[in-house]
Amino acid sequence: MVRNIALLGSTGSIGTQTLDVARRHPDKVKVVALAAGRRGAEALAQAKEFGVRSVALGKESPGLEVPAGVDVSYGAQAVADLVALPEVDVVVNALVGAAGLRASYETLRAGKVLALANKESLVVGGDLIMPLAAQVDEQRRIEGLAPAHGPAGALMPIDSEHGAIYQCLIGEAKREVARLWVTASGGPFRGRTREDLRDITAAQALAHPTWNMGPKITIDSSTLMNKGLEVIEAHHLFDMPYDRISVVVQPQSAIHSMVEFTDGSVKAHLGTTDMRIPIQYALSYPERWDAPVEPLDFTALGSLEFAAPDTDTFKCLALARAAGERGGTLPCAMNAANEVAVAAFLEGKGSYLGIAECVEAVMETHDVEAVESIDQLLEIDAWARRIAAENVC
Ligand SMILES: NC(=O)c1ccc[n+]([C@@H]2O[C@H](COP(=O)([O-])OP(=O)(O)OC[C@H]3O[C@@H](n4cnc5c(N)ncnc54)[C@H](OP(=O)(O)O)[C@@H]3O)[C@@H](O)[C@H]2O)c1
Repeated sequence: MVRNIALLGSTGSIGTQTLDVARRHPDKVKVVALAAGRRGAEALAQAKEFGVRSVALGKESPGLEVPAGVDVSYGAQAVADLVALPEVDVVVNALVGAAGLRASYETLRAGKVLALANKESLVVGGDLIMPLAAQVDEQRRIEGLAPAHGPAGALMPIDSEHGAIYQCLIGEAKREVARLWVTASGGPFRGRTREDLRDITAAQALAHPTWNMGPKITIDSSTLMNKGLEVIEAHHLFDMPYDRISVVVQPQSAIHSMVEFTDGSVKAHLGTTDMRIPIQYALSYPERWDAPVEPLDFTALGSLEFAAPDTDTFKCLALARAAGERGGTLPCAMNAANEVAVAAFLEGKGSYLGIAECVEAVMETHDVEAVESIDQLLEIDAWARRIAAENVC
């Protein structure tokens, strides 16, 4: 069966790797719509290569040469509208930040499969998105689109940790799951003290030891905010209470995550550190297709190390977990503050340690509400961005 995909964030790290998967499996994946932000010319070149007719760009780019037969629309609504095109079966949401929330929501509302890299969607709007995903799962079962065994596949995680847990859980009873172990590389500053981190520059923080990713997630990985966002993502995706989600540093990034069961058994998912594997699995489920990368060579791997994360030095992990545990609209405010602080750090306007301080200041100011609607979340996101801008330090 060919999957017709709309790829949101096609010019980014996950976006271009998704196109690599599509190039390798043209008989299984057809790209039918593309969305990007500022890199309009790149998105149009992709449209030409893959014969895509519908392109949405977040930002108007004057002087773009639009190939014949390609329809280009502009703005956030245009990006969200792509997901409802009748020819789209699967939406790969590889947008960065809370900007991806509406597209995730509209994808599931339109009854389509959501292959989700944009973890911020779940961090901010998990309370709205998961019930929608359950409805689409149910619909897929009724229509005979779900596999005979395992999850119905309406919401497929692309994050390698969540893809790993997803696979470890297949065939298991929920009541027999004791704990999820989310692995972390520890980032480029593992083992450093707060004093060592005082003068860290963006260039230093952008050099991640094991993964090659977009700038925002690379900074989030170095502060361990990324792991905090992933804890919240795991809570929503797998309906797991926070006290049964643990983070462990696994510097080689060979173990992508683990599930512990009530009898003390642990299943771990291992593999080469290449995002095309989890991207491809999110598209191939319940099948497995040929790997686009060399398999892991255990004889060359050497040792596997494990350590507890240092949440005194890397406060963002503790802040995100606290936001998740409190719930409601706090993760939305926390996430927006982090986006502002990270952007300021990348522009040289804020310090590295100031990222956590800014996030904490916004979390302390926010009056938490129960999550009710996308519009409410977008309002809180905008409020948190204003407060965060005043607290960049
Ligand atoms: N990279 C990884 O290895 C990895 C792994 C796991 C999860 N993730 C998650 O995947 C998501 C994407 O990460 P990434 O590393 O691929 O980021 P990235 O390289 O920065 O790419 C982001 C993409 O989103 C587009 N975009 C940004 N704002 C937009 C807007 N307002 N409207 C339309 N398009 C917009 C960008 O377009 P332009 O570049 O054209 O502006 C780009 O195509 C994040 O949520 C991240 O946490 C990434």
